[in-house]
Amino acid sequence: AESATVNTSIVTLTRFLTEEQAKFKEATGDFTLLCHALQFSFKAISYYIRRATLVNLTGLAGTSNTTGDDQKKLDVIGNDIFVEAMRSSGKCALVVSEEEEEVIFFKDKTNARYAVACDPIDGSSNLDAGVSVGTIFGIHKLAEGSTGTKEDILKPGSELLAAGFTMYGASAQLVITMKGGTVNGFTLDNSFGEFILTHPNMKIPKSRAIYSVNEGNSLYWEETTKDYFNSLKFAQEDGKPYSSRYIGSMVADAYRTLLYGGIFAYPADKKSPKGKLRILYECAPMAMVFENAGGQAVDSKMNRMMEVVPEHIHDRAGIFMGSHDEVEKVKKFYKQ
Ligand code: AHG
Ligand code: MN
Ligand code: MN
Ligand code: MN
Repeated sequence: AESATVNTSIVTLTRFLTEEQAKFKEATGDFTLLCHALQFSFKAISYYIRRATLVNLTGLAGTSNTTGDDQKKLDVIGNDIFVEAMRSSGKCALVVSEEEEEVIFFKDKTNARYAVACDPIDGSSNLDAGVSVGTIFGIHKLAEGSTGTKEDILKPGSELLAAGFTMYGASAQLVITMKGGTVNGFTLDNSFGEFILTHPNMKIPKSRAIYSVNEGNSLYWEETTKDYFNSLKFAQEDGKPYSSRYIGSMVADAYRTLLYGGIFAYPADKKSPKGKLRILYECAPMAMVFENAGGQAVDSKMNRMMEVVPEHIHDRAGIFMGSHDEVEKVKKFYKQ
């Protein structure tokens, strides 16, 4: 008999990873356990964000992090949730977090084979306004024989085993991709407490006339950057200019760009000569998602973002990412 409306074969994240394991070389089950800990941290962070206004979790913590950001109370809580989830998974040897000055090593976890980089809450300046924020993560495998050193994480995006991000918006979304794989999107079903596969095999539209950048920085931009963004405001081939969309949470701007297409940028400028966004836990994971979805990501020198090697854990880069043709256009513009 046909049951028309109820899906009785729901693909949860756990089911997806189990089925994926067959195809994917990480067949030990350790990767699935690590992902379990990850998804628990996402649920917990999402929960506290949604309750923040009710339980006095809005506002500043009164401290700042290594890259100079004022920490919000939720930045600190999100970080603690994330780090504890990684520690207790037993599968993570070390963590780099935006909110931690140094690498955290879990030396007692001798079976741990993974190194994880994270931005526990991306877009935290938007938190108190209830605007979408999210968590960004990148997973590396330890080098053969290594018990976990800084070198296991100071790697380019091209060596990432998996990466992705969540967006805590009207619903919690999770986007994840594995090396050489497709990009898959999940939605948290609060009543099941599970991430459900809702966006299989995500592909970014090849082009779209939407640009996303903090235009308030144009005072500090290089001439080429000014010229490029100005060029989008004139009639294009179809007679229309680009639309502007900027949320100010990379996860939300990235999620929209992934679904609708367009270009997202945070260029290096005179105020931030190395860019603002950080390579290990912002730029590289996003670059992997965008490339695996058929898009592109480059730094301000038009180098492929996936090949940018950080020297220090909190190093930054300028970034342009989005639809294939939109990034192609940026590259051509900067090469002139
Ligand atoms: P975070 O909240 O993790 O420190 O990241 C902030 C980032 C990113 O979310 C966003 O794209 C960008 O900063 C916004 O910066 P501006 O406010 O300078 O536009
Ligand atoms: Mn920050
Ligand atoms: Mn961030
Ligand atoms: Mn952050």
